[in-house]
Amino acid sequence: MGRYATFALFLAFGIAFQLSCGTEVNVKDKDDKLCLYANLMVNFSVSYEVAGNKSATAELELPPEVTTNGSECDTTSSVLKLNFGEGHSWSINFTVNGKMYQADYITFSYNLSDTTRFPGSVSNETTSVTVKPHITDVDMDTCYSCKSNDMIENDLVNQTLWNVLIQAFVSNGSKSEQISSCAADLPTTAAPTTHSTSTTPAAPVTNATAPPPTTTPTPTLPTPSTGKYSIKPDENSTACLLASFGLRIGYKQADNYQEMNFDPNGTTVSGSCGVNSSELVLVSNTMTIMFTFTNDMQKFRLHALNVTGSMSSGVSFSEANTNLSLWEAAVSSSYMCNKEQNYTVESLITFYTFNLQVQPFGVKKGVFSTAEECFLDSDLSFLVPIAVGVALSFLIILVLISYLIGRRKSRTGYQSV
Ligand SMILES: *[C@@H]1O[C@H](CO)[C@@H](O)[C@H](O)[C@H]1NC(C)=O
Ligand SMILES: *[C@@H]1O[C@H](CO)[C@@H](O)[C@H](O)[C@H]1NC(C)=O
Ligand SMILES: *[C@@H]1O[C@H](CO)[C@@H](O)[C@H](O)[C@H]1NC(C)=O
Ligand SMILES: *[C@@H]1O[C@H](CO)[C@@H](O)[C@H](O)[C@H]1NC(C)=O
Ligand SMILES: *[C@@H]1O[C@H](CO)[C@@H](O)[C@H](O)[C@H]1NC(C)=O
Ligand SMILES: *[C@@H]1O[C@H](CO)[C@@H](O)[C@H](O)[C@H]1NC(C)=O
Ligand SMILES: *[C@@H]1O[C@H](CO)[C@@H](O)[C@H](O)[C@H]1NC(C)=O
Ligand SMILES: *[C@@H]1O[C@H](CO)[C@@H](O)[C@H](O)[C@H]1NC(C)=O
Ligand SMILES: *[C@@H]1O[C@H](CO)[C@@H](O)[C@H](O)[C@H]1NC(C)=O
Ligand SMILES: *[C@@H]1O[C@H](CO)[C@@H](O)[C@H](O)[C@H]1NC(C)=O
Ligand SMILES: *[C@@H]1O[C@H](CO)[C@@H](O)[C@H](O)[C@H]1NC(C)=O
Ligand SMILES: *[C@@H]1O[C@H](CO)[C@@H](O)[C@H](O)[C@H]1NC(C)=O
Repeated sequence: MGRYATFALFLAFGIAFQLSCGTEVNVKDKDDKLCLYANLMVNFSVSYEVAGNKSATAELELPPEVTTNGSECDTTSSVLKLNFGEGHSWSINFTVNGKMYQADYITFSYNLSDTTRFPGSVSNETTSVTVKPHITDVDMDTCYSCKSNDMIENDLVNQTLWNVLIQAFVSNGSKSEQISSCAADLPTTAAPTTHSTSTTPAAPVTNATAPPPTTTPTPTLPTPSTGKYSIKPDENSTACLLASFGLRIGYKQADNYQEMNFDPNGTTVSGSCGVNSSELVLVSNTMTIMFTFTNDMQKFRLHALNVTGSMSSGVSFSEANTNLSLWEAAVSSSYMCNKEQNYTVESLITFYTFNLQVQPFGVKKGVFSTAEECFLDSDLSFLVPIAVGVALSFLIILVLISYLIGRRKSRTGYQSV
């Protein structure tokens, strides 16, 4: 009996502790029903400019008293906006992704005119920083919970979130009792991503109190399988665009880096062949990749790349570069690179290609034309015969010169006698 009482007391104390320490808000929809619940703690470390071209660092906390003006609830997206002090605000945007939801970004605005928090600031403006939080894959109708510290860094502001309890999409006006814990809170051996479909080995989780490792894990994925893709101008013609390659995609988000192999099996291929520009579009169930090739009548190149999709963790991304010059070769030939090649799009997405061969223009009889190989494939051993040849010709020239000198000497010798 006494044991139970102690337990109940402990429980009550635990809850009271959490309530008294965090910033707790209940956002209501237009029918006055609870639609978003949050209880969390945030520390900010803000770097700002002071006189003499120096910078100072202000440490602030999200106070318990905030207003929620600007917060919104919708069925597929919601915003939690917490306003405090003299025009400061912290907001977090959520979206629904299938049966889960995630936080897409956090915006922190701070008013540098607030001399109590930013003494001596040169600027008097309100500054905003936007960062990507690490809140993903939260099951619908559950609260996201993360007691561990989650530090989100930025050039100007570091934010530390802890004791976080958020339900971004509350149904029926009452908070869920179900909890989705963050990876850092989970005990050892549990894989942080439960929805992984790839063969990625579970990252070793050290211990619950340790923050996630900041170094990017080394990839241990197998070589992706090579997909063969072709585009036909119409059903009765032979292919006008050919491509075959294995593809791996790396995605960097804050200090988190993930890789996945692109599975050619089950990929929908579409595209078009033009005079100056051809396009290949690959749609898998996780991502859409658009390759745009152009030619200047002499050479073709991969000119644009657009990737949209989501990683196994549920993080969605969209990156494009429309000013590339990759995979360059003569128009009447194909480009080939068997070695692993990588290319980083907009610093967030890295493409790794394997056993690559493409021909976006001038395909004849549905097969690749002569290949121009990439530099990586060219074995440096080709230098050996060249070196031998150079040495040999040097020897021949030497012999020839000595012969000519000898002949001339003997001739002058003959004349002088
Ligand atoms: C947050 O800030 C307060 C006061 O500045 C400090 O006492 C506390 O240790 C900080 N917590 C974290 C997790 O940084
Ligand atoms: C943010 O954290 C990093 C690493 O801990 C540190 O180097 C940097 O100075 C911090 N920035 C601010 C504004 O506190
Ligand atoms: C302030 O520092 C920047 C670079 O750090 C420099 O270009 C600028 O001239 C400095 N201004 C003054 C007034 O010292
Ligand atoms: C910023 O702070 C100043 C001084 O405290 C205040 O007068 C001003 O209204 C604040 N700006 C906003 C946007 O609230
Ligand atoms: C901000 O500073 C500029 C000059 O540094 C000044 O002209 C302006 O009036 C100030 N604005 C406010 C709201 O204090
Ligand atoms: C967490 O793990 C690290 C290294 O794996 C170890 O140094 C540290 O003592 C551990 N902390 C706790 C609280 O177990
Ligand atoms: C393809 O060939 C079939 C049979 O030869 C013909 O009926 C059809 O119209 C052709 N389609 C096109 C797009 O030329
Ligand atoms: C493609 O997937 C189907 C069904 O998942 C499977 O039967 C088939 O063997 C796969 N093909 C290859 C080449 O992996
Ligand atoms: C292809 O480019 C050439 C020269 O730049 C131009 O004259 C021609 O109209 C272009 N053709 C198409 C179909 O865009
Ligand atoms: C990339 O593709 C997406 C989806 O098709 C599209 O919304 C976006 O505008 C494209 N980006 C560029 C730069 O073309
Ligand atoms: C495209 O790249 C070229 C050379 O790399 C550069 O000169 C040009 O400014 C870039 N154009 C755009 C729109 O980024
Ligand atoms: C990308 O390729 C370059 C050159 O081949 C290589 O030095 C680099 O290590 C590769 N980067 C990654 C992340 O594999």
